[in-house]
Amino acid sequence: MAQMHNNLSPAEGIWSLRRLPDMDEAQFSQWQTLLEHRTGITLSAERRSFLETNLGIRMREIGCSSYQAYYEKIVSGPDAIREWSTLVDRLTVQETRFFRDPDAFRLVSDYVLTRPREQLKKRPLEAWSVGCSTGEEPYTLAMVLNECMSQLALQPLFGVTGSDISKPVIEKARNGQFNPRKLLGMDEDMKARYFRPAERNTVEIVNSIRDRVCFTRLNVLDLDKAPMHGMNIIFCQNLLIYFRRWRRREIVKRLAERLAPGGLLVLGQGELTDWQPPGLQRVPSEHVLAWIKRQTDEE
Ligand SMILES: C[S@@+](CC[C@H](N)C(=O)[O-])C[C@H]1O[C@@H](n2cnc3c(N)ncnc32)[C@H](O)[C@@H]1O
Repeated sequence: MAQMHNNLSPAEGIWSLRRLPDMDEAQFSQWQTLLEHRTGITLSAERRSFLETNLGIRMREIGCSSYQAYYEKIVSGPDAIREWSTLVDRLTVQETRFFRDPDAFRLVSDYVLTRPREQLKKRPLEAWSVGCSTGEEPYTLAMVLNECMSQLALQPLFGVTGSDISKPVIEKARNGQFNPRKLLGMDEDMKARYFRPAERNTVEIVNSIRDRVCFTRLNVLDLDKAPMHGMNIIFCQNLLIYFRRWRRREIVKRLAERLAPGGLLVLGQGELTDWQPPGLQRVPSEHVLAWIKRQTDEE
């Protein structure tokens, strides 16, 4: 921020401390449309102040004085792609934690432990965390898979991919270092097995887990470009909640195509209602919203 302000004239510097004007209805609608078109995220009228605050912070950083000028910069400015990449990180909710949905991870564990042993020995298990934020979810998946393999006395033959639209969160996830507060509530044995103290009072994921997890930037609206296929487990929680119903269904269909026959798809509770994805069979569970892909494409 300081660096940006160094390029401002004194008048602009004074301006940057002033309050931005309120966003009018037409401007709000323009930003809503842009965000939904590019990310799938719908912003309700109640979230207007969230949008104003976050746009305002970014506009001050770069010394931009009007929502309209900033909009034009984002859609057609010379640095539009890079600026959008910065902004999208500010407009997404990135809250996450290790073992966020314990029932869902228990289901993953049961699913793996009941798979034919020969299959687990022959072919690596592939899991994918879609909308992985700073990495807690894919690392948790890796820990769960590792626990299963060790319980079955098998080599840890598995890989986990985490994907997200935001570049900064992917960088943090790759870094694998966390504030110890993020581990609150986690089982002490698991903490001791999978984390070690690191620099600046952080803890880091041990290499045996880190080496099994990779991260990539991917917009869930561009699933047709994703190289993932034959996944055994797809975990997509707390992302579709921001999308319209029709779009949730579309994305679930696309994710189902990426599952291996017999693969498991897990969403967040309540993220898909009144609809049965074709080719998938609901896992009977009160607490977890999950399906198994049928062995053939028949419904
Ligand atoms: C609330 S976090 C969920 C993190 C994790 N799945 C969990 O449940 O703890 C939602 C994540 O979805 C990402 N996201 C939002 N829109 C996206 C899109 N169109 N494609 C991919 N990721 C997206 C955000 O950047 C954010 O990191």
